[in-house]
Amino acid sequence: MRVAIIGQGYVGLTIALGAAGAGHSVVGFDVNEALVTGLNSGKSHIEGIFDKDLSGLITTGTYTASADPTVLDDCEVIVIAVPTPLDSDRNPDLSYVHSASDLISQHVSIPALVVNESTSYPGTLRNEIAARIKGVDHLYASSPERVDPGNTTWGTKNTPRLIGGLTPPALARAREFYGSFCDSIIEVSSPEVAEAAKIFENTFRQVNIALVNEFAQIVDALGISVREVLDAAATKPYGFMPFNPGPGVGGHCIPVDPSYLAHVANQVGVPATFIKRANEVNLAMPAYIVKRVIAGSGGSIKGKRVIVVGVSYKSNVADTRETPAAAIIDLLREQGAIVTWHDDLVATWRGESSLSIAGADVAVIVTKHDGVDLAAIRACGYVFDCTGQIAGVDGI
Ligand SMILES: NC(=O)c1ccc[n+]([C@@H]2O[C@H](COP(=O)([O-])OP(=O)(O)OC[C@H]3O[C@@H](n4cnc5c(N)ncnc54)[C@H](O)[C@@H]3O)[C@@H](O)[C@H]2O)c1
Repeated sequence: MRVAIIGQGYVGLTIALGAAGAGHSVVGFDVNEALVTGLNSGKSHIEGIFDKDLSGLITTGTYTASADPTVLDDCEVIVIAVPTPLDSDRNPDLSYVHSASDLISQHVSIPALVVNESTSYPGTLRNEIAARIKGVDHLYASSPERVDPGNTTWGTKNTPRLIGGLTPPALARAREFYGSFCDSIIEVSSPEVAEAAKIFENTFRQVNIALVNEFAQIVDALGISVREVLDAAATKPYGFMPFNPGPGVGGHCIPVDPSYLAHVANQVGVPATFIKRANEVNLAMPAYIVKRVIAGSGGSIKGKRVIVVGVSYKSNVADTRETPAAAIIDLLREQGAIVTWHDDLVATWRGESSLSIAGADVAVIVTKHDGVDLAAIRACGYVFDCTGQIAGVDGI
């Protein structure tokens, strides 16, 4: 099939290469021209997508990137994989989805299968995409992406894929497309079921992470090790699923998607109390971390050199979107600490550069990438570990 993927970020590039690998003729369309140039020269910007695989597909002619929307013209399948962030009031910002839909309206003149993979609330495909695209009778389906960047066990091929069609022919066409490169296809009765399932998956994580973050604070105040308690609880072979406490939640999904659900809940008059409370608990974690760091450093960090280690939101991934490291650094500075940061995967961030760990009085480990210099961390006067992965130091 001739396939266009709108948006070549974490989701779009992953799916583009999955489809190209199955022999489809894929064009990755993105408005970011520098990104397109890089992709066409065989440079991947996503962990887990290797330059050699990208170059191989470019050489065989199955993948190309473009910033020219006319490439959408004769495509049989068009996948939308654009950002779905929150606006300044933490309400859904569907402007990227709308602009992708408008491009389809302007450029696609033959009936195609239009799939939305961007995460959004139930009703988005029907009301915000299909209703917006005029002139041509396309087939519409929703197939929310479940990619977990950096996960080497679960990828596009072996992660079960949900699909919901606006009509039975749309569902059949989506099955044909995704069945060509995904092992397991789960058909649901409507796009709204697929959209709601995805948003509930992420809300489930957000709420459980908040619960364990609150629990960590309770048991610490009781003088009990939260990690030991969690290890003990996880020995129950049924009815328990372990989540780890940490500095908060980051990335494009967990801090954002539940607010999409809260938005529609509000519209239908149902209070989304768990989501609201989970947001509050997770957003308050940086303040809790800083309080613990101050207590562990003898009651003050004024004038102390603090290194924050790992500023991306997740191990072995360079993504700094919504990272709790930002609030931790800001709060430490408000307390008079001299704060720098180190991240083996992030060279520059917020106008600052990654600096050496050596010589700090205090190290705060927000995210631990494989291969980080543990000896340098341990050489700091006081270490606070938010990850639970460094034995024998203070932390949660
Ligand atoms: N990152 C993840 O782990 C993940 C996992 C599952 C689902 N999702 C969802 O997938 C969607 C995309 O997320 P992402 O992480 O890939 O985002 P991203 O920011 O990595 O990539 C989005 C890309 O879309 C491009 N873009 C924006 N508007 C465009 C337009 N009108 N036309 C063409 N390109 C456009 C941007 O330039 C960018 O390169 C979001 O809804 C997100 O919630 C993300």
